[in-house]
Formats: sequence, C-alpha cells, structure tokens
Amino acid sequence: MSAEQTRQAWARASRKYLEEYAETLAQAREARLEPVEEQLLAGPVAGAVVAHPMSGHGVDDAALARLGAAEVIGLDYSPAAVTSARRRAEELGLPCRYLTAELPDSGLDTASVDVVYTGKGALIWVPDLAAFLAEMRRILRPGGVLFVYEAHPLVPLWTWEPGQVRVREDRSYFARSHVNDTFPAGGATEHQHTLAELVTAVLAAGFTLEHLAEHPEPFWKPEHLDAVAAWDGRVPNSFSLLARRS
Ligand SMILES: C[S@@+](CC[C@H](N)C(=O)[O-])C[C@H]1O[C@@H](n2cnc3c(N)ncnc32)[C@H](O)[C@@H]1O
Repeated sequence: MSAEQTRQAWARASRKYLEEYAETLAQAREARLEPVEEQLLAGPVAGAVVAHPMSGHGVDDAALARLGAAEVIGLDYSPAAVTSARRRAEELGLPCRYLTAELPDSGLDTASVDVVYTGKGALIWVPDLAAFLAEMRRILRPGGVLFVYEAHPLVPLWTWEPGQVRVREDRSYFARSHVNDTFPAGGATEHQHTLAELVTAVLAAGFTLEHLAEHPEPFWKPEHLDAVAAWDGRVPNSFSLLARRS
C-alpha cells in the first residue's frame, strides 16, 4: 500500500469532519484533555506556542487553548480536516490557526514553538520516526517540550471481543505495518513502532525523557463497541510521553 493511498483515504475520511461539523463544534466548546495530559501539560502549555502535528478534527486544540496556550498551530494534510478546524476556531474565537502540511515537513520556522503536542492516532501514520522527530526537534526552541499521548503499540493486536483478551491472528507486535480496517480504512497503511523503538528514537533525536507511562484506557472507542475484554484494565491501550529538547 502506498503513502498516496493513505493520503487519499484520509482526504475522503476527513470529509466526516465537515459533514459532522455541528457535533465537533459542540465537542470543542466543552473539550478537555485527558487528566494525565492536563497534569503533565498545565505548566508547559501555559502561555505557550503549541504545534499540533496531525491535528485531524482539532477538537484537542480547543482544549489546549483552554489550558492556557497562547497559540495552537494545527498541521494536517487533509483539506477537509484543515478547513473544518479553521472554521470552528474562527467561530469559537480560539487562538488556533491551521496549516496544510505534509509531515514530516511542517513548514514552521526553526525554534519557533514551545510545545509539540501530538498523538491519538498520529504516530501510526509516520513511516520514519527519525525524520519526524528531527523535524519536531528543529521547530522546538531549546528546552521546549515534546508531548505524545497515543495508542499503545500493542493495540493493533487486541481483538474487540468481550470475555477474554485475545491477540488477533493476523497481527504481530514486531510487524512493520498493517492495513487499517477501521477508520479511515480505504487501504490506509498504519506503521508500527514498538515502545522500545519509539523511546530509542526520541533519545537519539536529541530529547531527554522526563515521563513515560502506560495506561489501560484506550484513547478512542468505536461507538458501537462497549464490553471489550481488552478494555477491562488488564492490558495497556495507551501511553503518555513527555521529552524535553536538549
Ligand atoms: C487519527 S487522525 C487525527 C489525530 C488527532 N490527534 C485527532 O484527535 O483528531 C490522523 C490525522 O493525521 C493526518 N495525517 C496522516 N498522515 C499525515 C501526514 N503525513 N502529514 C500530515 N497529516 C497527516 C490525517 O489527515 C488525519 O487527519
């Protein structure tokens, strides 16, 4: 599957954000980050310029603004995602602006942001972690913070069955990629990075690791599912990472 196929899958799927504009607008009015995110980010985000690579529907940008960000810059390559997020920010009077960018190239100036906030379905679209992290380091000012709250790399392995936690027969923790079969679907390729690979890449890119934790809660649950065994608290479904640019 090609990167172009993934881009097209997102271009199609992101139209949802325009079609469901009223719902995301209502969510943005109330948006809060997860408690662990607020706890870790309240200090770094206060008064900060925050870049949000792969900002998607951008509801979290409203939460970042509420947490005290001076400016949030959303970066995404899907036209509908950027258009809907920009319209919402204007309507709510948020200090957020949106750029169409094909990452890892952000288009932002060197050392121009205080915080990079990303995750919730972002790193799986990154084929080359070293290139992505080098760009994040370039745009961060010295002492700036890289924050990731993301699906745990084990998540692609869990089935969504009730009862017993099971590993999907078609998945491996050590595979390099798999084809997405939920959202955006359409042949999009999700890249897999083990937790060790991610941490090693963050350190190699010139960051100091200040926080790494694994959490039982998933950051996203498909609407039609509820009693999933893998969500009953026994296995990891998300992680948080905070690293500082040296
Ligand atoms: C799961 S979504 C959004 C995640 C976001 N944190 C959220 O909660 O909405 C992933 C986003 O990444 C964007 N994306 C994927 N690959 C990209 C790339 N190479 N450059 C820019 N945006 C990309 C897609 O367009 C999509 O909007």
